Amino acid sequence: MKKATFLVLAVFAMFVFSSVVMAADGSALFKQKCVACHGADASGNTSMGQKMKIKDLRGADVQKQTDAQLTDMIANGGPAKKPTHSFKTKGLSDADITAIVTYLRSIKQ
Ligand code: HEC
Repeated sequence: MKKATFLVLAVFAMFVFSSVVMAADGSALFKQKCVACHGADASGNTSMGQKMKIKDLRGADVQKQTDAQLTDMIANGGPAKKPTHSFKTKGLSDADITAIVTYLRSIKQ
C-alpha cells in the first residue's frame, strides 16, 4: 500500500473511532465545567450566580437564543468574548459544545 493511501486511511479510521467512542455527553460535561457557577440544576442559584446575576439557563431569556448564539457564548464567550466562558480555549471540542447546547435544550422549562 502506498504511504499516502495508508495515511489517508489512518486519519479516516481515527476520525470514525473518535466520533463513535468519544460521543460527548452534554450532561456530564455540564457537571464538570458549568455547575460551579450555574448550579447543578442550571438555575444560577449559587453564590457566584447571585453575585453575578446569572440567568436561569432553563428560562426563556436563555432558551430564546439560537443554537449558534449559545454555541458562541460557550465556545468564545459570546459577542463580548467573556473569558468566563471561551471554553474552546479550555479544552472543549466543537462536539463537546454541541452536546452541551443539546443538554441545555433538554432542560428547558
Ligand atoms: C466562572 C463561572 C462560570 C462558569 C464556569 C460558567 N459560566 Fe456561564 N455564565 C457565567 C456568568 C457570570 C454569566 C452571566 C453573563 C456574564 O456575565 O458573562 C453566565 C452566563 C451564561 C449563559 C447565558 C448568557 C446570557 O445570555 O445571559 C450561558 C448559556 C452559559 N453561561 C453557559 C455556560 C455553560 C454551558 C458553561 C459550562 C460549559 C458555563 N456557562 C460555565 C459564569 C460561568
